[in-house]
Amino acid sequence: MTDKHYIGMPLQEIDTPALVIDLKVMEDNISRMAGYFAGIGANLRPHVKTHKCPIIAHKQLAAGAKGITCSKLGEAEVMVQTGIQDILIANEIVGPRKIKRLMDLAARADLMVAVDDEKNIEDLAKAVRAAGVRLGVLVDVNVGMNRCGAEPGKPSLELARKVHASHGLTFMGIMGYEGHVVGVADPGERSRKGREAMKLLVETKDLIERSGIPVEVVSSGGTGTYDISGPYPGVTEIQAGSYIFMDAHYRETGIAFGCALTLLATVVSLHLPDRIITDAGMKTITAEFGMPVVKGGEELEVIGLNEEHGKIRTRTGKSSLTVGDTIELIPSHGCTTINLHDRYYGVRNGTVEAVFPILARGKSV
Ligand SMILES: Cc1ncc(COP(=O)(O)O)c(C=O)c1O
Repeated sequence: MTDKHYIGMPLQEIDTPALVIDLKVMEDNISRMAGYFAGIGANLRPHVKTHKCPIIAHKQLAAGAKGITCSKLGEAEVMVQTGIQDILIANEIVGPRKIKRLMDLAARADLMVAVDDEKNIEDLAKAVRAAGVRLGVLVDVNVGMNRCGAEPGKPSLELARKVHASHGLTFMGIMGYEGHVVGVADPGERSRKGREAMKLLVETKDLIERSGIPVEVVSSGGTGTYDISGPYPGVTEIQAGSYIFMDAHYRETGIAFGCALTLLATVVSLHLPDRIITDAGMKTITAEFGMPVVKGGEELEVIGLNEEHGKIRTRTGKSSLTVGDTIELIPSHGCTTINLHDRYYGVRNGTVEAVFPILARGKSV
């Protein structure tokens, strides 16, 4: 069965396990975020590592996004193939093979890449000179997440100087992802910690500018902090990604975007009185942020995932479901769940309206 045969099909008839987008909810998420950024002095550069789907990236751009953010070179290659030009790879690209691919891509698109290491800067500069391409560079600043990034202040300034003097690289500015803040549940605490992180970032920008190097781009932010870091004076763009679908884990923070993504699963076995077995196991939905949540099923609790089976307990001890019925699960972590699938079924009013290939799925190299 080809994708086009699904168009017009009722949701319940899609072969499972299947990733389903509620198109209305996704469209509302896109326009809500775009509307927010239209009203402030910063740009939205959505992170596509969540949806990994060029069709959705183009919708975000059409709604006003300045460009896109990728975490992997492979994702960026897929996006460029569909005509997207303005891309930040918010990650360090290390090693000769990847740097060669980066040069090939820079010949075809307007790229920025993150750096936090002197030798990597030298390797990139040498490659840029040899290839004769333009490559924008952001110095990655550790604003508290303790993942990648040079320390704020002087260590980041030293890297900025090195990029600026590199004969080849185009120093564009800095980035600092406050990933330790985006999921803080208490809004007051999230705001305080977010502003603390942005203070480190913007102080570093000021230091670089005082040394005579212009800083055009200050990039940061996720779904949990778009309205904290976005309006922070000095920040120029936000890399939020999860807002497109909102998963069950993010929903716990109370951030006002709708859950647009579910995994449709079929009940395949019913033998124990309080147990429902589905065809959605850990090969189709991930659990590192907790078990998926059954949409509209207060009395149903996912209690385990095997490779190809999901185990659901009915809190009431009984259920009206029968073998062959379908249920929808909200993934606890959308990004890693999506990476297990080839396509989305876009549904409106209970009917499939579109099928979107997830072309960057698995592009982790
Ligand atoms: C560097 C970077 N920027 C932005 C984001 C997007 O954050 P969110 O998923 O909270 O929207 C991530 C997420 O992991 C990230 O790693």
